This record gives sequence, structure tokens and C-alpha cells, in this order.
Amino acid sequence: MKLLVLFAFLACLHVSVTNAASNLVCYYNSASYTREGLGKLLNPDLEIALQFCSHLVYGYLGIRGDNYQAYSLNENLDVYKHQFDEVTSLKNKYKHLKVLLSVGGDFDIDADHPDKYIELLEGGKVRQAGFIQTAFSLVKNHNFDGLDLAFQFPRNKPRKVHSGLGATWKSIKKLFTGDFVVDTNAALHKEQFTAFVRDVKDSLRNDGLQLSLTVLPNVNSTWYFDAPALNGLVDFVNLAAFDFLTPARNPDEADYTSPLYSSATQNRLDHYNIDFQVQHWLQQGFPSQKLNLGIASYGNAWKLTAESGIEGTPVVQHTEGAAPAGLQSQKAGRLSYPEICGKLENQNNKYLKGNDSPLRRVTDPTKRHGTFAFRAVQEGITEGLWISYDDLETASNKADYVRVKNLGGVAFFDLSYDDFRGQCTNDRYPLLRAIKYRL
Ligand SMILES: *[C@@H]1O[C@H](CO)[C@@H](O)[C@H](O)[C@H]1NC(C)=O
Repeated sequence: MKLLVLFAFLACLHVSVTNAASNLVCYYNSASYTREGLGKLLNPDLEIALQFCSHLVYGYLGIRGDNYQAYSLNENLDVYKHQFDEVTSLKNKYKHLKVLLSVGGDFDIDADHPDKYIELLEGGKVRQAGFIQTAFSLVKNHNFDGLDLAFQFPRNKPRKVHSGLGATWKSIKKLFTGDFVVDTNAALHKEQFTAFVRDVKDSLRNDGLQLSLTVLPNVNSTWYFDAPALNGLVDFVNLAAFDFLTPARNPDEADYTSPLYSSATQNRLDHYNIDFQVQHWLQQGFPSQKLNLGIASYGNAWKLTAESGIEGTPVVQHTEGAAPAGLQSQKAGRLSYPEICGKLENQNNKYLKGNDSPLRRVTDPTKRHGTFAFRAVQEGITEGLWISYDDLETASNKADYVRVKNLGGVAFFDLSYDDFRGQCTNDRYPLLRAIKYRL
């Protein structure tokens, strides 16, 4: 009898072991190497993360606008100063690590050729062969383990702010005008993308190289990703299920930017949440073990106005676009995890008043929507701020979700915005650790 109990216990143990998510895919953008000040991520700091990561996705390659060849967006560092080789040589020390080279990722900004990703798809086999060959050479020559395509497809239109009568009129109008359509040839581009991915895979196969896809924020998977066909071609898919709202796209209202579940209140859209995006892939029969859930290590920060009120409860109205860039993030409307943590109440700012007063952090006991932190515009305070972000608690909740849904793991965007210096609590990479601990 005792033996039986023991067996049952072992069987349970076995289940929980196989249920553990194995992937922790860490994004590394080498542009963070060349930042000034606190945001500068040098190799000794990068290395500390590698014990936690199963994969490192190294960014970024771009596509040349004139001939559609692949090239490093940071050539001086990556190629001439040998950062590609420095990073891939870390595999000698971290034997478990796979390092993939990524294309696009929203960093391939090219005003002269804004549609080059679509043009590459429309350009047929010859044009694509040029890309595939050059990408393959970079992967092969610098000892990467494969390629990641973070393809820059057209974005969903941002959610509109409406109120009262206007809303009814707009939703009627939407029915007739297909207000959400951003690409009338999306069906064709989806087909072309699948064929393109097949050819990319063919170029990698002989050398046993891996291929992954990154679905960028606000790229609509329904339109561009043929999940059943892609299943046979890729090792995994990383879903960047965050930035559903951003101050750049939604200057006039602030809301949770990467909620786990929807709350169909106010004018929230059904598909602006993690569960919807994950279910979309699973419902098409894409294997859960090949799907990695993206978690951002930065928050989106809006400026509040007096009209936004003092409650902070989202959806927050009458915001005024992006809050000023942080010293580390160096991008308006974006703050890294340690920058946010430094603005919450601590020993240094506890007694400060006015625009230097600490932010109030509001957690979510339902674990469905996330954390936000804010400082309202009111007496003595002119610089109001509202931030949606993942803290250790919500990142852990998301890792739990990954385990419960039996997903492959987490994709972490990116290492340079985590607290790699240990400024918050002396722990280096606290978000990454929190995720790893729960997987
Ligand atoms: C793609 O966009 C359509 C129209 O807005 C929406 O109904 C659908 O849910 C979206 N798909 C995903 C995966 O977000």
C-alpha cells in the first residue's frame, strides 16, 4: 500500500516535471552596447544573464532597401568590432545556449523604403534568394545557431478613442468601411510569407540550423501567419504580446499595455490581451510547446493632465502622449524596469514633494490585467505620469500562465531594460530571475 502511494506520488512528480516550460528566450539588441550612461549593456553584464537563458536572440539584421540583402544594422560594432563573434563565443562557456540572429524587430527603420518587407515578399524567388543567401552567410560565418525572423508587417490600426454619440456613429461607419483593414493584400502576403519561410528553412536545414519567428506587437497573426503550415517549418514562435497600447499609438488614453485577459468594458478590443493571442495560435493546431510568450522588461509611460483625474484607474482619459524618455530607456514613452522601480516609493524619495514625489503602485489581485503606477496632476504636481508595466509579481503570473497552458516558455524583450546593474534591490536581472524561477 505504501508503495502504491509512493508510485502515485512519483507519477505526479513526473507530470509536473514534464510540464515545466523549458525555453527562456532572451532578446539582446547590440544597440544597447553603444548607448550612453546607465543603459549601456557591456558584455560582462550580458554574460550574467546567460545562465538563465536557453536562447539568446541577437538583434538586428536589416534589409537593404535597394537590393533586399540582409546586413547588420550595427555593422561597426557587430562586424568590425567583432561583437557577433564575441557573443557567439560565449557558447563555449554556456554550453546549453543557442544564439540566433534576428532580422527586423522594429529596428529596421528606413524612411526611403518603408515597405521593403512587403516588397521582399512580393519580389519572388530571385529577390528573396539574395536575402536568404546573405542572411545565411552571416549566420554561418559568425557561428550563430540559426535565424529569427522578426518580420516588420503592417500594424493594426490603433484603438480609437470615442465617447457617447460619436462612438455609435463610428461603429456603424466601421461596419461599412472596414476601418481596421491595413493591408488589402494581406491574404496574398500571408501565402508569400509561408513560401518565403519554407525557402529560408531550406537554406538552414543542411547545417542543422534553427529557425524561429517573432510576431511583433500589433502585427495581426490572423492576417500574416499561416500557423498550420508554419508548424512544419519553424522551431518556435515568439509572441510579442505587449504594447497593445502605447503612448505613440494611443496618445489620448492610457490603459494596461499587456493584460493576460480581456475585460470587455469601455472601448477595449477583444484581441488586445495575451490569452486571445495565445488561443489564436493554439486554436489553429499550432503545438503549444512551440509557442513562447513574450514579456517586456519595460513599461509604457503616458503624461497625465489635470483632466485625467486623480484616480489613475484605467482606461485613463485625456492623457497627453508620451512621458519624457528615461536616462536609460532613451526613448519617449518608455521606461526600463529599474527606472520605474526607482520612481516608486523608496528611502530616497519618500519625503519628496511635487514633481519629485514617488509614484503610487497599484497591483491587481485578480491577476488578470497587471500593475500600474502613477502620479496624478494635482496641487503642487504638474508632471503627471501613468505607467503600465510588468513587475516581479505580474511577470511571475505570466510565467505561471505559460506553465499551465503548457507553452514552450517565455521570450524576454529585452535584457537591456531589466535591472542588469542591480539598482533596485541589488539583485541583477530581477525580472529575468523571477520568470526563470516560475517556469
Ligand atoms: C486581427 O484583426 C481582426 C480585425 O480587427 C480581429 O477581429 C482579429 O481578432 C485580429 N486577430 C488577432 C490574432 O489579433
